[in-house]
Amino acid sequence: MTMLQSRPWSPPPVVRPESEPPAPERTDIRPGSAQDLEAMTTFLSGLSAETLYKRFLTGLGQVMPPGLPRQLLVPGATGGSLLAVRGAAVIGHAMWAPVPTADDPSGASTVEIALVVADDHQGQGLGSRLVDALVDDVSGHGFAHVHAVVSAENHVVRRMITRRVSDARYGRDGALITVTADARSLAPRRSWPRGASTAR
Ligand SMILES: CC(C)(COP(=O)(O)OP(=O)(O)OC[C@H]1O[C@@H](n2cnc3c(N)ncnc32)[C@H](O)[C@@H]1OP(=O)(O)O)[C@@H](O)C(=O)NCCC(=O)NCCS
Repeated sequence: MTMLQSRPWSPPPVVRPESEPPAPERTDIRPGSAQDLEAMTTFLSGLSAETLYKRFLTGLGQVMPPGLPRQLLVPGATGGSLLAVRGAAVIGHAMWAPVPTADDPSGASTVEIALVVADDHQGQGLGSRLVDALVDDVSGHGFAHVHAVVSAENHVVRRMITRRVSDARYGRDGALITVTADARSLAPRRSWPRGASTAR
């Protein structure tokens, strides 16, 4: 006669797949340089006509102007650039460079800023991260004024400005708006003013 021995029950071993699925790649923001030329060229080539127009305020045509990627990465002797990178790919770019204006013809005290995010990555908070990093970068360089030129119908970027600048001065030139602010008034994103329109 065979005796069945009662043994304490233990759960079956958990079988794990050979390798876990990769975590989604994270997006880093870092300074751009001439080393990023190839990735920057690929990034610019992939932008839609609408995004290119909003960024450069003109049609760029079928062929990318030679030298544009380099100029955006290294904007002059005193300017700077930031890249949003995921893996080896550039998915966003921001830059600042001194610029002459009517109030400051020498361009010694005014810095122009601009940014662009890849179409597939827009509306996910990346532009906000880039602009906050840009504000940090610029504030260390002692410029008195910050200046941006945007399309009047670009409500996304106008909203971004309103939320970070308390003393913006606006000028209108046809379809374009120039926004100038005291560099010291730049701050991290503010809450949307109570009662203001949130139409985008
Ligand atoms: C402007 C731009 C850089 C913003 O980057 P983004 O990653 O899309 O922006 P975010 O997701 O960080 O959103 C920024 C704000 O706009 C709002 N927003 C973003 N996309 C929006 C959309 N399609 N409709 C309405 N609101 C939108 C966000 O809710 C956020 O508002 P909040 O600050 O109140 O939270 C990007 O849309 C872009 O590259 N546009 C084309 C180039 C351009 O216009 N450059 C600016 C001129 S230099």
